[in-house]
Amino acid sequence: MLLLAVVAGLMAGDLRVILLVVGAAVAYILFKKTKMAKVVEKLEWNVARRLKQREEQINELQIKTEALDSSLREEINSLNYKELIKALQDGKYKCSDVLLAFQYRALKANEETNCVCLFITEATEQAKRLDELAKDPHYKKPPMFGFPISIKENIYVKGYDATKGYANGVDSPSKEDSPIIAQLKDLGAVPFVLTNVPQSMLSYTCMNPVYGVTTNPHDKRRTPGGSSGGESAIIGANGSLLGIGGDVGGSIRIPCHFTGIAGLKPSHLRLSENGMGVSIPGRPLICASAGPMAQSIRSAAHYLKCIWSDDWISRIDPYVPPVLWNDEEYSSTRKLKIGYYSDDGWFKPTPAMQRAVLETKEMLEKAGHTLVPFEPPNVTRAFQLFIGAVCVDGGAYIMGKIDNDLPVPGYSDMLRLYRLPVFLQRILARVLDHIYPRMAKALRAMPKTTSDLREIYEEIKQYRNTFQQQMAESNVDALICPVQVFPSVEHHVPMQMFATVSYTGLYNLLDYAAGTVSVTKVTDADEANLAEYPASDPWYAKVKEATKGSVGLPVGVQVVCQPYKEERCLRILGEIEDAIKM
Ligand SMILES: *[C@@H]1O[C@H](CO)[C@@H](O)[C@H](O)[C@H]1NC(C)=O
Ligand SMILES: *[C@@H]1O[C@H](CO)[C@@H](O)[C@H](O)[C@H]1NC(C)=O
Repeated sequence: MLLLAVVAGLMAGDLRVILLVVGAAVAYILFKKTKMAKVVEKLEWNVARRLKQREEQINELQIKTEALDSSLREEINSLNYKELIKALQDGKYKCSDVLLAFQYRALKANEETNCVCLFITEATEQAKRLDELAKDPHYKKPPMFGFPISIKENIYVKGYDATKGYANGVDSPSKEDSPIIAQLKDLGAVPFVLTNVPQSMLSYTCMNPVYGVTTNPHDKRRTPGGSSGGESAIIGANGSLLGIGGDVGGSIRIPCHFTGIAGLKPSHLRLSENGMGVSIPGRPLICASAGPMAQSIRSAAHYLKCIWSDDWISRIDPYVPPVLWNDEEYSSTRKLKIGYYSDDGWFKPTPAMQRAVLETKEMLEKAGHTLVPFEPPNVTRAFQLFIGAVCVDGGAYIMGKIDNDLPVPGYSDMLRLYRLPVFLQRILARVLDHIYPRMAKALRAMPKTTSDLREIYEEIKQYRNTFQQQMAESNVDALICPVQVFPSVEHHVPMQMFATVSYTGLYNLLDYAAGTVSVTKVTDADEANLAEYPASDPWYAKVKEATKGSVGLPVGVQVVCQPYKEERCLRILGEIEDAIKM
């Protein structure tokens, strides 16, 4: 534009026109800069105010929770999920006291991991109301009566922001509770705290410019995973027994694996998509599923049993088919045929991850099931399809959001390659084909045109059929496989290593039920075996380096079933968990 005007001016031979145009351009750039600086200043101010609000909340709660008798508090906090649900049903404790005890432990978990965005202050009123209701001898307590539950920050809670980790999201409180929150309250549960997420929620680290970095309870230098990292941190640090997270590419399963807890991503078909902030809206084939995260998979199962006990969800969202909890499947003792794989052919997992699968296989065989090797169809292709379908628009939406927000160190690394126009990505892919073939493949994933996108969707449908047919031909009821290629890593690593989410992303692409339980810890032998791990390309070298020094960190295994078979998935996860405890 500027150049054109200058040329026009030159041609007209009029110096005044040139000066005028150049002056206007300089003024415009300065104006833009000042405006941007003002926006940044405003965002920083909003963040500072928010942090002050959080600090005040915490100080207030510290005083309030001290008021609860410490032996009562310890008694309440020593109960597991099942015991506490029962004690509340039996009226052994007041809901208000249970809430205080949980606020206390959440404060402790927050001191350790910075997992809390804000406490939901209305929980106090809700607990009091429940205590009043319970005074009526005819009152029938709902199944989660008085149970405090933690909530991932992007789930809409009336009066609270769902920032998704953007400073831009501060001060835009939700007008209504999401269906999940409304249903939890109907079930008697008390949502009491909102937990942290990474900016954009499209990463498996957990940091943002508003609430900062959430750390792993097992090692502060490492991430609790993401995007449901605040949940995994609070539960892993014993600040909550059950929380609600969300998963588009592993956002429930990876944090569970990194922190040694359990969780399930149901097929999104069984839940309402309403009432949540999602990383990239308007994406028909890769949808976010909200799901439970807990210290034990049995508690996650109890929550799902409650929400699927009637057609509540389908009544408020008629697009959700009224598929009720199938207790027969969950309690079945039928021996199963289960497929397993410890390497998906795209990204080899580090030794402890593979050992976790093989040990789980043996455990399940001891329990009488039949385990057979299963090779998932072309995961390299599936992963390309996943990237294309997650970003939909070549990354335009996500980059627009991140560029207009306060920066998070390292995020630009994550996006650098995808900032190139798609045609340049393709050219770069050609250059890399021989020296860095996996990166070349990732660079071919983004759709260039709407026709590309349509073809991706078509291929995903075909892939789903192929996968389903292969399971049918092998006659397997479920699959077990790794959750990730490594245990928890340092905070910055996930931003450079999106390529490792193939193990979880595959089951978002397929929209299957997929969950995880913690089965082992990294051993010295695993660390020694790392020497054999490839370093044949920069990704492998990075993974090898990032995995060093992880002895003692928890390792999960993934269990996968087809849509509407969540109960079977939970049953297998439960059997694995029981076998570990024995
Ligand atoms: C959680 O805390 C309670 C009480 O402080 C304690 O009894 C229990 O063992 C802890 N659980 C875990 C998993 O650390
Ligand atoms: C899997 O997909 C990749 C990427 O599209 C392709 O290069 C490869 O040939 C495929 N492999 C098989 C076995 O079909």
